[in-house]
Amino acid sequence: MTSAHNHTHDKPVYKGWTGSGAVDLAKDQLVEKEFEVKPWDEDDVEVKVLYCGVCGTDIMALEGLEGPAPPNSICGHEIIGQVVKVGSKVENNLKVGQHVGIGYESDSCRECDACLRGQEQACANMTRTFFSKFRRGNGTGAPSQGGFAKYWRGPSKFAIPIPDGVDLSVAGPLMCGGVTMYSPLKRWNVGPGKRVGIIGVGGLGHMGVLFAKAMGAEVTAISRSGSKKEDAEKLGADRYIATGDDIGKAFKEYGRYFDMVICTSNPKSFPIQDYLPILNVEGVFCFIGLIVNPITTSIFPLIERNLIITASAVGSPSVIAEMFNFVKEKQIKPWVQKFDMDDINRALTSFKKGDPRYRYVLVNTDNGGEL
Ligand SMILES: NC(=O)c1ccc[n+]([C@@H]2O[C@H](COP(=O)([O-])OP(=O)(O)OC[C@H]3O[C@@H](n4cnc5c(N)ncnc54)[C@H](OP(=O)(O)O)[C@@H]3O)[C@@H](O)[C@H]2O)c1
Ligand SMILES: [Zn+2]
Ligand SMILES: [Zn+2]
Repeated sequence: MTSAHNHTHDKPVYKGWTGSGAVDLAKDQLVEKEFEVKPWDEDDVEVKVLYCGVCGTDIMALEGLEGPAPPNSICGHEIIGQVVKVGSKVENNLKVGQHVGIGYESDSCRECDACLRGQEQACANMTRTFFSKFRRGNGTGAPSQGGFAKYWRGPSKFAIPIPDGVDLSVAGPLMCGGVTMYSPLKRWNVGPGKRVGIIGVGGLGHMGVLFAKAMGAEVTAISRSGSKKEDAEKLGADRYIATGDDIGKAFKEYGRYFDMVICTSNPKSFPIQDYLPILNVEGVFCFIGLIVNPITTSIFPLIERNLIITASAVGSPSVIAEMFNFVKEKQIKPWVQKFDMDDINRALTSFKKGDPRYRYVLVNTDNGGEL
């Protein structure tokens, strides 16, 4: 007999959308295959996937741009689902039937300095939700598998409860993109009286505008062209800068203007020195987008104004939970466009072209997700 808390009538069939190594999204297709899920640990939960957002990092990973793409691995790390099974050592007090989100990280070692400080996203032995391996318990050595799938299984600590009153169908993107913006804005004390610039009006950037505005800052959207101006204003941006071909000209009136600038765009190389003039004394420039080539700058502007150049990665489980309280209080809703999970290839190709306005969410209608 199975113990009551462990019992479930759901018999998950683990199926997900995968490629055979690096994928060219212009022509290759992901295919749906059954996969072997990690062996069960008593602190695991099993989650029926309702929604999964598509993040720029999925695209880079699938294309093999951040290292070899392992065959038969499943991306997707903006997961919203419903708990269908919990182990006897379940964390976060999770119960069967509850809604949870899983983001970029599926596990961490729990023992290192980063973990003990609540900075699990910086654990050197972390398990990323895709293209990674579990490193504890029965699951040791098993590949992690993401949310472009019907079910997810993993450590309950990284399945974050979604508070009632948060719209599940737009919540997926908050699990990676959202917390990636929320975390540095909080860390650098953005709020009333602060001027924030967000570079790149995309999935992350548009949530950055929503969060910075809800925190009370004056927000400027900084985009390559003028095409997203109207949207940026609807999102709450007070100002809009189209950088165009002449950055110096675009920034002419913004010398020493910003307290913080967050860069979500991801060109191969980024001319940081052209952006430093817009930072005020003790201004912070924070990189989020994965820019492959090294950045170079003279140190003189940094010395002159005590500038800080930094970067940030996603957010720990406790920061994700804190973000959801803020999202609920301020009713923050990412702008999403939904696709049936079966249309994943159409969604990925379209993402690659820069079409999303501003985040794609894949929906498992057969699991009860709503299109
Ligand atoms: N640090 C972290 O923890 C973390 C977490 C999630 C994602 N990321 C990374 O963050 C970046 C953004 O992800 P996303 O999901 O927001 O992607 P996205 O929706 O494609 O948005 C990126 C935006 O950057 C700008 N951009 C795109 N291509 C560019 C190019 N070649 N040169 C200059 N600007 C370009 C565009 O904005 P405009 O059209 O307005 O210029 C675009 O909307 C990706 O590199 C992703 O891997 C990092
Ligand atoms: Zn992501
Ligand atoms: Zn650790």
